[in-house]
Amino acid sequence: MTPATVLIIGATGTIGSALVDMLVSDHHDGRLRLAAATRRPDAAARLRERGVEVRRLDLDEAETAGLQAVRPAFAGVDRVFLLTGYDVRMLAQSKAAVDAAKAEGVSHLVRVGVSATDDTTIVHFAWHQLIEAYIERSGLGHTHLRPASFMQNLRLGVDASGVLTHFVGEARPNWVDAADIAAVAATVLRDPQPHDGQAYDLAAQTASLSEIAEMLAKVTGRPWRYEPAEPMVFYDDMVAAGADPVYMACVRNVFERTRNGSLNEPDGIFGTIESVTGRPATTLPQFLERNRHLFTG
Ligand SMILES: NC(=O)c1ccc[n+]([C@@H]2O[C@H](COP(=O)([O-])OP(=O)(O)OC[C@H]3O[C@@H](n4cnc5c(N)ncnc54)[C@H](OP(=O)(O)O)[C@@H]3O)[C@@H](O)[C@H]2O)c1
Repeated sequence: MTPATVLIIGATGTIGSALVDMLVSDHHDGRLRLAAATRRPDAAARLRERGVEVRRLDLDEAETAGLQAVRPAFAGVDRVFLLTGYDVRMLAQSKAAVDAAKAEGVSHLVRVGVSATDDTTIVHFAWHQLIEAYIERSGLGHTHLRPASFMQNLRLGVDASGVLTHFVGEARPNWVDAADIAAVAATVLRDPQPHDGQAYDLAAQTASLSEIAEMLAKVTGRPWRYEPAEPMVFYDDMVAAGADPVYMACVRNVFERTRNGSLNEPDGIFGTIESVTGRPATTLPQFLERNRHLFTG
């Protein structure tokens, strides 16, 4: 039987690169045919060195050149992994990907959204939910992955002197290792049928930043201190670094509302990572231990 072709969109990013690592052996063993999408020639060359087929894909090109500009990347593909970056263009990018997937006869789409209550009023959470509704309307087989805050975000607030900066005061957000999101995606992409029509919230643990600073002290063997900062500082820094101000205003609002307690996390969402992958979710201490170099370098 010909193995199913899996296209990974976002293959060079945090989740997508972990997903390529997990599926590359399926590719070499002939269980799947892996194709990775990127806009960047340097990243394409590195992926090709690993024996992975690379397809050039810039979803923004659909706006100026029509759907035919992006359809070739989906040709002959059976299953698609879709994520988009931290940008309001996620809306049009996702629509173009869904439309191109449908036009090219893709059978199943696994997409990364966000963990949120159904009635959320956070703007980019609403965008994710509207994209999910569009996918459901498309008739494509689909699985929605809805992660909580990535543990990987913690590295952005690390200072060599042992200070961990964040923007949510003493609130206790939910956390997930991006590698666990990739593990769930890999499981679904290998055998989508049991997961068709499912939505999986993905979170491993709840913890405040003060609690995480204590965990860091245990893992690294030196003192760590949490320093709460204003959400507006996050916004100003990210926009100065070139990030999309529309999206970053949404993240700032999440921080503000997490800090003031007006943003509720969805209930009863733990356990999905284990039920899908068959192994327990990565805890914060395990993540910090495995990624100790990010906090000690
Ligand atoms: N961070 C969190 O705590 C968190 C929590 C919940 C949900 N999320 C969601 O997770 C998603 C981001 O995941 P991530 O951190 O893994 O992303 P990431 O590391 O920022 O990677 C983004 C990927 O998107 C690709 N991309 C960007 N623009 C593109 C375009 N125009 N056409 C085609 N591909 C494009 C990039 O590929 P190239 O540059 O190689 O082309 C890259 O591989 C977002 O939807 C976010 O809302 C994040």
